[in-house]
Amino acid sequence: MIWSALFAFASLATAAPQFGGGGGGSGGSTGHGTSLVRFGCSQVVIERLDPLVNPGVLPSPHVHQVVGGNAFNASMASTDVSGIASCTTCNFPDDLSNYWTANLYFQARNGSYKRVPQIHNRMEDGYEGGTTVYYVSPGSGKVTAFKPGFRMLVGDTTLRTKPTGVNMKTQSCFRCYTGPNFKGDDLSPCADPKLDTETLPAGPCLGGIRSNIHFPTCWDGKNLDSPNHKDHVAYPTSGPSSFATTGTCPSSHPVKIPQVMLEIVWDTTGFNDKSEWPADGSQPFVLSNGDKTGYAQHADYVFGWKGDALQKLMDGGCFGAATCNGVKTQTAATANKCAVKDTVAEDTNGWLTELPGHGME
Ligand SMILES: *[C@@H]1O[C@H](CO)[C@@H](O)[C@H](O)[C@H]1NC(C)=O
Ligand SMILES: *[C@@H]1O[C@H](CO)[C@@H](O)[C@H](O)[C@H]1NC(C)=O
Repeated sequence: MIWSALFAFASLATAAPQFGGGGGGSGGSTGHGTSLVRFGCSQVVIERLDPLVNPGVLPSPHVHQVVGGNAFNASMASTDVSGIASCTTCNFPDDLSNYWTANLYFQARNGSYKRVPQIHNRMEDGYEGGTTVYYVSPGSGKVTAFKPGFRMLVGDTTLRTKPTGVNMKTQSCFRCYTGPNFKGDDLSPCADPKLDTETLPAGPCLGGIRSNIHFPTCWDGKNLDSPNHKDHVAYPTSGPSSFATTGTCPSSHPVKIPQVMLEIVWDTTGFNDKSEWPADGSQPFVLSNGDKTGYAQHADYVFGWKGDALQKLMDGGCFGAATCNGVKTQTAATANKCAVKDTVAEDTNGWLTELPGHGME
């Protein structure tokens, strides 16, 4: 996502009063209602753990790439993690949350797997791999920040076909960069009719592949979690919105929460040799849960902002990754010093004969 597209978003905000008015602004504040906070989070660990879906299971079924605070472990409880973590790989030191997704692997023609390296996103120089995190609010007082202990999951690791009645592409998509330096990154996430697909791209992407995942934006106002980690949140009645906290929340989930969106850049450029691609012409990439379609892309979120820092960003008309409304930032170099010890200690990165955990869901 480039700033011109962000400005396009801001213009959309001007055109659509339900965003609370909009407009540009290049500093820490839009000077208007809309907050659009975008920042880098380096890798904190890559391993087979999932404290949300498989608490205490060590190792969990498939590999995840994890960013954020150092409280991440196999059994982290639904509690105020901002009081447990002591550092974060994210731009905002007060964001001790964790965010994680499946990894991407390449399967060569001989059947072996290699983990696709992650690179920092556009305008996130200095961050190591990891994830770009967005929080969006349509205006001051328009969203309620998450509460300590809040967690949620988006996506379904068992999905292998297009779900009916769901606009999958606005929830989860892949962008096929057309060349180096994020070429083709012109339209809002998941909004490019050609370069964004809900399935893994069919052909080689000359600048790599970017994942985008949009979390739901409505909350039941009561539960910090639910048995499937999904039922306490919902998309607006109009369905997932592409990169904007728009739409009306259903009466079951009346509280509007910040829109959390994740972007992950996979450097697939080392795997574009068609002679290594499957002989049947299919694409060679597979998520760490064994999914070759892309439909099983999913993301987990454990809220861990300190105090009212997130609410301040959402109410401040904040823009970009700048210090805004008194919320501090840290350098990428400082963020990169934060790490979690890999407790599973298995090879996730060499040429592997099987996906770690056999690519289990
Ligand atoms: C995870 O962290 C919590 C809080 O620090 C600690 O109580 C728990 O024992 C840890 N669990 C594991 C598996 O390390
Ligand atoms: C499979 O192919 C890849 C890519 O050419 C190669 O690096 C790897 O060593 C091969 N693995 C085996 C087991 O032959």
